[in-house]
Amino acid sequence: QEDKQESNQHETLRWAARLFHQTLESDAGRAAYAYLVGKRGLEASTIRKFGLGFAPEAWEFLLDAARRDNIPVEQLTALGLVTRHRERNSLYDTFRNRIIFPILTVGGQVAGFGGRTLSNDPQTPKYINSPESAIFEKSKLLYGMHAAKNDIRKQETAILVEGYMDVIAMHQAGVTNTVASSGTALTRYQAKILKRYTSRVLFLYDGDNAGKKSMLAGIDILLSEGLTPWVVLLPGGDDPDSFIRNYGKEAFLEELESEKSSFQDFQLRCYRDAGLMENPDTASKAISAMTKSIALIADPVQKELYLEELSKKLDLSRQTLRKVMASSNDDRA
Ligand code: CTP
Ligand code: MN
Ligand code: MN
Ligand code: MN
Ligand code: MN
Repeated sequence: QEDKQESNQHETLRWAARLFHQTLESDAGRAAYAYLVGKRGLEASTIRKFGLGFAPEAWEFLLDAARRDNIPVEQLTALGLVTRHRERNSLYDTFRNRIIFPILTVGGQVAGFGGRTLSNDPQTPKYINSPESAIFEKSKLLYGMHAAKNDIRKQETAILVEGYMDVIAMHQAGVTNTVASSGTALTRYQAKILKRYTSRVLFLYDGDNAGKKSMLAGIDILLSEGLTPWVVLLPGGDDPDSFIRNYGKEAFLEELESEKSSFQDFQLRCYRDAGLMENPDTASKAISAMTKSIALIADPVQKELYLEELSKKLDLSRQTLRKVMASSNDDRA
């Protein structure tokens, strides 16, 4: 019973994804298509690979299509594709005038959608996503995982970016082991998915403060799930997608090679840049955070080696660092 309902929902999601995609490639999607090709540099094959779509600026585009194709409207409301207007007790399409990004499960089923507005109105939110439901739990999905999983396994590394467009631009640039945590900070659940395919994860979040903070938090999640994090910090204003468009694919690949640093070097750099290492009080807190990360590593050899590295970098004895590590463990208990 429940399985049947769920498979119906997946069918309806697939129906909607196909409709949005066909619309993007039709006359109704001309402006949206021109935006993706002209402004975002996408190729036709990339648009097809990710099944990108377009939801027109209309209140009942999906609703009309559902009536035509005998899709029960209750299913669309349950999936959040259609929203109920409380006062008027009427229904309208959730996604309007938006580029549609179908979000797939690892197995390739459509779980929900992200939608990016084409409007310049600052009041309109840039992104909306399918509402949370049993079928769409954003924190348990990684955008692009279905397309990337084989290459993640082959290359023994997953590259983790923030956004839909970052995944798409990187796959188009040939970096096909890329997935996105989709804005939210990385979750344990997402780390566990990655772990089924690799033990190495390269963070490549936006080069702004929010991106740095999310990477610092993500490092500890990966470590505690037994994964080894690496980091590439992009220049301040860039995300992977804009970097590729601004400087080209070659420069981007070069950046990936030359800017890759260990999670520990990245932590130290963040704390130095923030001026925390300049006085003993704040330095002590920063060092405590770094030893906490080391304490999360299960492998005893790795743990010891990272501790030794840190000891060299800070010019503090391993014994001192072990004491810090032990006392921060006490704090947590
Ligand atoms: N995101 C989201 N909901 C929001 C804001 C962001 O789900 N309200 C997720 C999306 O997956 C988005 C990612 O966070 O792709 C990164 O957001 P941001 O950097 O703000 O946008 P970009 O993807 O860089 O968007 P664009 O390049 O199209 O401007
Ligand atoms: Mn097509
Ligand atoms: Mn951002
Ligand atoms: Mn972007
Ligand atoms: Mn971004």
